[in-house]
Order: sequence, then C-alpha cells, then structure tokens
Amino acid sequence: MAERLVEMHGLCHTYQDQTEVRAEGLPFVVKAGQRVALVGATGTGKTTLLLHILGLLRPARGQVQVLGHDPARDFGLVRWDIGAVMQNPDEQIIGPTVFDDIAFGLRARGLPLAQVQERVQAIAQELGLASLLTKVPHHLSGGQKQKVALAGALISRPKLLVLDEPFSGLDPNCKRELVHLICHHSEQLGMAVILSTHDLELVPEIAHRVYVLHDGQLVLSGSPEEVFTCVDQLRAANLQPPAVIQLGLQLVEMGLIAQVPLSLEAGKNLLKGTRVKVKVHR
Ligand SMILES: Nc1ncnc2c1ncn2[C@@H]1O[C@H](COP(=O)(O)OP(=O)(O)O)[C@@H](O)[C@H]1O
Ligand SMILES: [Mg+2]
Repeated sequence: MAERLVEMHGLCHTYQDQTEVRAEGLPFVVKAGQRVALVGATGTGKTTLLLHILGLLRPARGQVQVLGHDPARDFGLVRWDIGAVMQNPDEQIIGPTVFDDIAFGLRARGLPLAQVQERVQAIAQELGLASLLTKVPHHLSGGQKQKVALAGALISRPKLLVLDEPFSGLDPNCKRELVHLICHHSEQLGMAVILSTHDLELVPEIAHRVYVLHDGQLVLSGSPEEVFTCVDQLRAANLQPPAVIQLGLQLVEMGLIAQVPLSLEAGKNLLKGTRVKVKVHR
C-alpha cells in the first residue's frame, strides 16, 4: 500500500477572534504520488486546512500528521519534503531577484553554488522563466509571480506540493499550462499534490482523488468521476460540476453514451460514431 503522506481527522481550528473552522466528517488522507483536490465554496475552510498541513496553524481539536510528524510541532523535520504555493504569491517572495527567490531553498540547505545554478536554470527553462532570472520579483505580473513561487517550491524536489487556489486569476491558456506542469512534475518526481479550488472545471484533468468540504464537514471523497456525478450533493455544497460532466450526465440519460466523460477530449471520443437523430417538431 502506498505511503500515507498526510492524515487528518476531525480538524477544528479557532482563530483569535473566536471564528471556528472545522473539517470534520471523513478523514483527509493523501498517499505518496497522489494528486488530491480539496474543493469547497469560498469561506468553507480550504486555506485553513492547508495551513494546518504546513504547520502554520495548530488545531484546537483533531489530528494532523504529515510524513509521520505533527507539522505544528516538528515542521523542521519535514520542511524540505513539502513545497507550497499559497494564494497570494507576493507574500512568498523572499529573494531580491527571481534567481535568488527560486534558489532560496537550495541555498538554505547548503548546496554547492554550481549545483544551485544548474537546478535554477533547468527549472526556469521548464517554466518559461529563463529570461526573468535577473528581474526583481515584485515587478512581475501576477501569473509570473505565481510561476516563480512554483519554481521555488519544485526546486527542492518535494514529496508533497501544496497549492492554494492555483487557478485563480489565470487565463484559460495559463490554467492548462499549469495543469500540464503540475501533472508532469508530479509524475516525474512521484510527488503528491494537494490543491484547493472552488473552480471544478479542471479538477478531473489533474486529480486522482477529490474531497468536498461543506459546512464544517468533509462530506464526499472519491475519484473525480465518483464525486462529480453526485450532482445534488455538489449543488448542496454550492458547487457546480464541470460543464462537460453536466452535459455527459444528460447524454447518458438520453442513452446516447454509456459513461460520463471527464474531459472534453473524452467526450468527443465517446461521441465518435454515435449517430444523433434529431426529431423536428413542426
Ligand atoms: N485569520 C483569520 N481570523 C479570523 N477568521 C479567519 C481568518 N482566516 C480565515 N478566517 C475565516 O475562516 C473561514 C474559512 O476561511 P478560509 O480557510 O480562508 O476559507 P476558504 O479558503 O475555503 O475560502 C472564513 O469564515 C474566514 O472568514
Ligand atoms: Mg482560500
């Protein structure tokens, strides 16, 4: 059985102003190499849950284990195994230039300069940042800053990558590119990914497993197909299943296709060879 990287049960956090945020119900488990989407409407507690995994918040109740450690107490033991890109990349900028920013984690671990340079060049090339390495990070666009943060997270070759709302503010092409980058690196490094989002459209293309957070409870979990076909439960959680799945469910109901497609491409393949007879009522 794959190693469990993250195990969380019955989480409850109380912020200083006494706001209580809960993620009770189902246990939240992430296995080695698995890509997990945490979905929920705005304000349900996705960021709060991620901050517990990163050891930045301590729960009032419940258990959080990351790589076998309590991250709020022993984050030093797991910090190099975890990369994170939080929603506001401005808060994550730590280097005076893009190069320094991406190199931070490797330098902090004392890697020889030649190796640092080689790895920064390689990741910058891959993410299309090579021409920006001497720039001041604060002067970059939002999308570029996010990529710099992603490069800085990936450069340590972590076992787990945490992404908070990675698609927000990106145009459709950038979203697709990000999906490709995340999947590629996760497969190449055997890296697990947890990403939070309220936008479900791209989730089937990226996630092996989905958790739905609603009203203080993790109410559903399963493969994208299992979760996204529970349309009523998703609507109750103020979420819209991806458009292709809504259409797919209709086509299955009409007997035109046998299974619900998870992507547009899969939908097109399922429809190939299907003759649709259209009745015209006069
Ligand atoms: N620092 C904080 N102090 C008080 N309340 C907070 C704080 N951060 C978040 N909250 C509240 O906790 C709830 C969950 O927030 P959050 O985890 O950011 O949700 P999500 O990421 O799903 O949008 C919201 O009601 C939010 O207002
Ligand atoms: Mg959030």
